[in-house]
Order: sequence, then structure tokens, then C-alpha cells
Amino acid sequence: MQSSELKKKYLEFFNNKQHAIIPSSSLMPENDPTVLFTTAGMHPLVPYLLGQKHPSGKKLVNFQKCLRTDDIEEVGDSTHLTFFEMLGNWSLGDYFKKEAIEWSYEFLTKHLKLDPKRLHVSCFKGDKDAPKDTESAKIWQGLGIPKERVYFFGKKENWWPSPKQETTGPCGPDTEMYYDTLKKKCGKDCMPGCNCGKYVEIWNNVFMQYNKTKDGKYTGLKQKNVDTGMGLERTTMVLQNKSSVFETDLFQDMVKKIENLSSKKDTRAVRIIADHLRAATFILAERISPSNVEHGYILRRLIRRAIRYGHLIGIKDKFAKQISDIVIRKYKNDYNDLERNREFILNEFELEEERFEKTLINGLRIIQEEIPKIKNKIISKELAFNLFTTYGFPLEMINEVARENKLKVDEMGFKELFAKHQEISRKGAEQKFRGGLADHSEEVVRMHTATHLLHQALRDILGKHVRQMGSNITRERLRFDFSHPKAMTKEEIKKVEDLVNKKIKENLKVERSELKYNDAIKQGALAFFKEKYPDVVSVYKIGDYSMELCGGPHVKNTKEIGKFKIIKEETISAGVRRIKAVVN
Ligand code: SER
Repeated sequence: MQSSELKKKYLEFFNNKQHAIIPSSSLMPENDPTVLFTTAGMHPLVPYLLGQKHPSGKKLVNFQKCLRTDDIEEVGDSTHLTFFEMLGNWSLGDYFKKEAIEWSYEFLTKHLKLDPKRLHVSCFKGDKDAPKDTESAKIWQGLGIPKERVYFFGKKENWWPSPKQETTGPCGPDTEMYYDTLKKKCGKDCMPGCNCGKYVEIWNNVFMQYNKTKDGKYTGLKQKNVDTGMGLERTTMVLQNKSSVFETDLFQDMVKKIENLSSKKDTRAVRIIADHLRAATFILAERISPSNVEHGYILRRLIRRAIRYGHLIGIKDKFAKQISDIVIRKYKNDYNDLERNREFILNEFELEEERFEKTLINGLRIIQEEIPKIKNKIISKELAFNLFTTYGFPLEMINEVARENKLKVDEMGFKELFAKHQEISRKGAEQKFRGGLADHSEEVVRMHTATHLLHQALRDILGKHVRQMGSNITRERLRFDFSHPKAMTKEEIKKVEDLVNKKIKENLKVERSELKYNDAIKQGALAFFKEKYPDVVSVYKIGDYSMELCGGPHVKNTKEIGKFKIIKEETISAGVRRIKAVVN
């Protein structure tokens, strides 16, 4: 079965069970300060899991593009990826464990025709926060999965989000489904959850009935939800009887092309290149450019790591564009931002490859200058680390140059410095996750409403070409990206700020309604053009001043916002400006 058929079957199956099909959201969560990228299908649904009414109803299904960088070191094995697609179905306070599990079983065994005898499942074993999930286990057994294939694990395996993410917000025990590849066990303890590849985790049903608060307590949610996620790539691999996701139709064209361009055989390198360039293509489709901060930094790392592996397997010329083009062709029907941004994407790949080349040349020059000064035939850890951080010069290449000059590198020392550096960036990354899946604190909600006013004010002062390109809010500040060809003048900034403050002072009511998408647009509602929208949408109106498609939440009256101040206006890429502002 082709991956596209699996997608189609999944949507159809749940649609026949009265689930509304909703579109995949942007890869960059709008108005969620806590993560850089959408990491799961439930991510854009957090307000609805918390109890807000979803315009499409209580039962939803979709496929969602996701990106996770925590497993980046694992990429290259048979199942780990940075970018992936997740098939998901949700109950927002509607059905619960029984239907969710029965439908999963029905879909896997009847529609995908997987062998029920090869299916293993795991359930939550219980701890001080929540009881053992014997209910799910019984449902599985009732369906015919014998006791020996029902496992009980702790929070690390059977709770979502996993405790290592240190998130707050909606969460709960889950039950995971694994398919036995019939490979030999890697040892006597080999069982579902083992990383050797015998058991492939294909689907996760989360029973979201708790809310984890900031002080680490678990309280009951207003409603009991179901959040499921099936990995498209992994399930396709199982269906196509392949031993890695890279051998499925999703990757085959890319892999073949990379192998053709290379002169050395190295499966891991080819996989890393395919994974990273696919992920980078999707990030670029959001019109993010490589940079040294946040999304741009992740993008840069993915591209440069892919290029480096390209060099290692003997690819001589620039190649990122050629691979990206294959990605665009493969996915353009499901994600229309790829084709729309084709030129931007390919151009950015070209520029980044050039920049990286220069970086490498500069690094090489520095090494050559330093080499004559070296007395003890050892490239010191400081020099190696400086080359690595300042010039982006990879350790393998430092080693290569060292060998050519009959020198050694203080690798141990380098690794120490590197570990310290990683610890610092890990802490930075954790900060980003702290605060939960969606921070709906008072400050964030106030700033969220302020961004709507800002959006309209920018259009009033600068012109109707202004469109929202992105937004990100933390408790400290709001950030708003928009299209505009040049820097704003001081006067323009002041005018926009004054206009927003004027509207705040007018004590405008903020009201939510549900409209048909086409009617909302006809009435002039602003839409975030990157999103695909469902037929019925949630619309927020601020007095008669602003009208925007949005999931919320917002303040009730603009007077709650406080005083609005722009603290910075800058460029982030060609034609895109960024405003940082605060309210107090
Ligand atoms: N949110 C859950 C996961 O990511 C189910 O989709 O595994």
C-alpha cells in the first residue's frame, strides 16, 4: 500500500465514524511560545482539549506535519526522523477508551489487514498521580489480544507528553500499539519499547483527562479527550514490508538520487541527508530563512549537517536543491505552501550552501595559519573548539587537516568543551519547553489580543499589503512577523503604537463567533494565509476594528490589555519585518 493510500484510508475510516476532516496546521505553532515547531497533531488543538468549542465539532481527524529535533542523533537508523507526518483522530469530550481502542483495532486489522497475532500493546502501569489503566488492557483483551502481548509500563513509555518534556497542560495515560517485524529478539529482555527494531511502534492513543499544573499537580480536565497519533512513515514501512522508513515510497526517489550523486556507500549518511533536507524543505516553505536563532538556527543545522554528510560520501557539487525539488514534487498535493514557495525554497538552499562553503574555506585558512605555530604536534582543544563554534568547522574535517599535516587533535578536550556547550544549549532549549504545551497565562492572552490590534493597525498605517507571516508570544513579549518591503520609519512606528493604544482605550468588546470560512473572508476577516482552514471557522472580532480567524483565547475587553509598546522593529528575511512589543 502506498503512503498516499494509507492517508486516504485513515481519513475515510474516521470520517465514516462521524469525524470531521480538518486541515494540517502550519509547522510553526501560531501563538504558542513553548515550542518552536508543531511536534504532534494535538498541538494546534490544545485550546479545544482544554474545553473550548471546536468549530468542526467534537470528533476530528487529520494528517499533520510535525517536526521534532530531540531524536536528531538517532536519525540514520531505520525509524527515527526529524520531520514526519502524523495521522490523528480526536475526541473532544466525546468518545473515550472503548471506542478509541476498538476503532484502532478495526482499522489496523480490517482496513490495513495487519496480522492481529503480530500486534502488541502497552498500557500505563499506574503511579501516585494516576491509577493503573486496567480498563484499556481489558478492552484489548476483549478484542482478542492475549495477556502476554499486553504490557504495562510507567510514565516514560505510557504517558503523553512524556515527563522528559517537562510540560504543563493537557496530558494523560496512553496505550501504544506495536507491530512485530518477526526479526529475532536482540536479547532475552527484548520487548515492545526496545530500540532494536523488532517491534515498531505505530500508533499511540492518549486518554487526556488530566491537566498538569505549574506546581506539578495533576488535576482533572473539564472533559475527557482522546488524542491519537499514528506515524505515517513507520506504518507505511510495516505495510510495505520494508526494514526502514527510508525504503518506503516516501523516501525512495530521494534516496536513489543521493546514492547516484555519491561515490561512497554509506546508508546512514544517505538517510541523514534525506531526512534533513526533507525537514529543511518544509521549514523553508514557512518562509523561514537560515539564521543563528530559533527556527532559523534549527534550519541551518539541518541543512549544514546534510551538506557535511554529502561531502563525506563524496558528493562534489551543490546538491541540496536537487533533493529538495524531489521533496516538493512528492508532497505538493498535500501541502500547497511547497509549490507556492518553490522559488524561495530552492534559492535559500543555494545561498546556504554557498555560505557554508565560505565558512569552510575560512576555517581552513585559519587552521593553515595556526599550524606553523603549533609546537607539540597537537591541535589544542581551544583551537579546535573555536574552529567548530566560530567557523562551523566540523571535527571530522579538523581531524582530516590534522592528519594531512601529521598532527593530532586533542579530541578528549574538544569533547569536554563540546559537552559543556551542549549542556548550556540544552538548558536554553528546556526553557523553551517550560511553561507547557500552550501557555494561556493572563499575560499571553493579553498580548494575543494585542497582536490582532497590531495586525490591523499595521494595515491601516502601512497599507493593505501587510499580512501576518508569523507570531510568537511569551509572557515577556509578543513577536509579530509581517510582509512589508522596507524598514518602518520612527514616525510609522509611533503611529502604529498610538493607534493600538487608542483602540485599547476605547474599551472594545472582543467577541467570538463561528462562521463559514467563505462568509468570514467575504466579511473581511483577516486570515493567516499559511494555514489551510476548515469549512467552519472561529472568528474573533474586536469592536468594529478588527476581525480575524483565530482559535483564541483572548481577553473579553481591550481595556484588559494595558499599555502597548513597540520595543523593536527589524528585518528577518527579504520582505519580512518583525516587531517585538510588550504590554504593561
Ligand atoms: N500526542 C500523541 C503523540 O504524539 C498522540 O498523537 O504520541
